[in-house]
Amino acid sequence: MSKTLVTALAKFRLVGIFALSFLVILGIFLSGISFPIEDKRYTDPNEIQQVVFAKIHKAASSTIQNVLLRFAVSRGLDVLLPKQKNHINEFESKIDPDALIWHPKGKLFDILSNHLIFDEDEISAYLPRSAFRFGILREPLSQTLSALRFYASLYLDPKSKLSTAMQMYFNDPVRGFLDHPEEFCDEDWSTDHCFIDNRMSMDLGFNSSDMYASKRNKTKVDEFVRQISRQFDLMLLFEYFDESMILLRRYMHWQIRDIIYLKVNASPYRSPYVWNRNPTLTHNQTKIFREWAAVDIALYNHFLSEFFEKIKKEDFFEEEVLAYKEILSTVSNFCANPGILGPYRLQIPCSRWTEEFHISLTDCAVMKFSEDELVDLVRTQQLNRLQKNLWYQLTNS
Ligand SMILES: *[C@@H]1O[C@H](CO)[C@@H](O)[C@H](O)[C@H]1NC(C)=O
Ligand SMILES: *[C@@H]1O[C@H](CO)[C@@H](O)[C@H](O)[C@H]1NC(C)=O
Ligand SMILES: *[C@@H]1O[C@H](CO)[C@@H](O)[C@H](O)[C@H]1NC(C)=O
Repeated sequence: MSKTLVTALAKFRLVGIFALSFLVILGIFLSGISFPIEDKRYTDPNEIQQVVFAKIHKAASSTIQNVLLRFAVSRGLDVLLPKQKNHINEFESKIDPDALIWHPKGKLFDILSNHLIFDEDEISAYLPRSAFRFGILREPLSQTLSALRFYASLYLDPKSKLSTAMQMYFNDPVRGFLDHPEEFCDEDWSTDHCFIDNRMSMDLGFNSSDMYASKRNKTKVDEFVRQISRQFDLMLLFEYFDESMILLRRYMHWQIRDIIYLKVNASPYRSPYVWNRNPTLTHNQTKIFREWAAVDIALYNHFLSEFFEKIKKEDFFEEEVLAYKEILSTVSNFCANPGILGPYRLQIPCSRWTEEFHISLTDCAVMKFSEDELVDLVRTQQLNRLQKNLWYQLTNS
């Protein structure tokens, strides 16, 4: 072949691939097809399909939500969603039925993965009590500093204590916070909705109405940890994310292809230099932070040891985690660089841990979706599907 012909063919292929990916993405929006990972030849008969996920702030929970929503769409499951945006509630645990997506009367939902304040009784009105309940926790200092960075640059109410403190300690907000956390956040919750005061526990339903006294009350904190331990089947850990996903897969009887992810919402804000990401705490700062984050720390420590006890009971766990990491890295390379002349579909071969499956460019696109984009898409698809079913029942009865 002549050189020009090769170049022309390459160009043609390039245009073709762009056009194809465009059509595929357009197709997701236009048709009711289910988008996620194809080749669903094998599913475990014991696969768990009813799931409640407590979406904790700043703990990689958007990544897990992405996995759960793709799972839901691939199985045609009903997701509990707000009518708009993506929070079911944020500052109190009541679920407002009028704020929820349309759903057939008397039917429960299958999956919950949107932000809310966890309240077993509220949730049980919408999802079965038998649904698998899990959450994710992050080491409290790193979770708190991540939240501080995020909320100080995004949702800063100029009248808030956080804003005043940020001005006072603009040279080194991390040190300012570690020395004087009470200046960054109203511990009585009267004026601020503060995301840096035991927010993980608050997301899980810790009563924050008297936070200052409550977090110093050991009886109350211990009671709370026991309650969460009773209510949840599994608590994952940010620091051991891939181990967490494998543990989750095994508890749910899911396949490796069901837990493929690309990192989403991982702090897109390259923080300015004033944010010290790994501060070394002085003796005093350690003491202050332990008191400040007492509920989150008690919670984390409890579930950290429980996590390792659970892993100890698993056979060939490390081997599976290693294989999973390798697959993730292949997928991540493929999605980052679909390759102008490369394949538009990645084949993951059959191994001891998985059947063969494929990742398409569409899968890549959906895994890269922001939380809002994916929630919007799932909401639209779900309404279409349920309304079609309703129409079918009406016209066939
Ligand atoms: C939280 O505690 C306050 C005061 O201790 C109490 O009045 C309130 O009812 C509690 N809220 C919930 C949801 O239990
Ligand atoms: C601590 O919490 C427990 C359980 O909620 C409560 O009974 C007790 O009165 C509290 N103690 C103080 C000093 O507030
Ligand atoms: C540590 O805290 C104590 C009491 O709160 C204070 O007197 C002392 O100066 C602090 N030390 C340092 C090095 O900041």
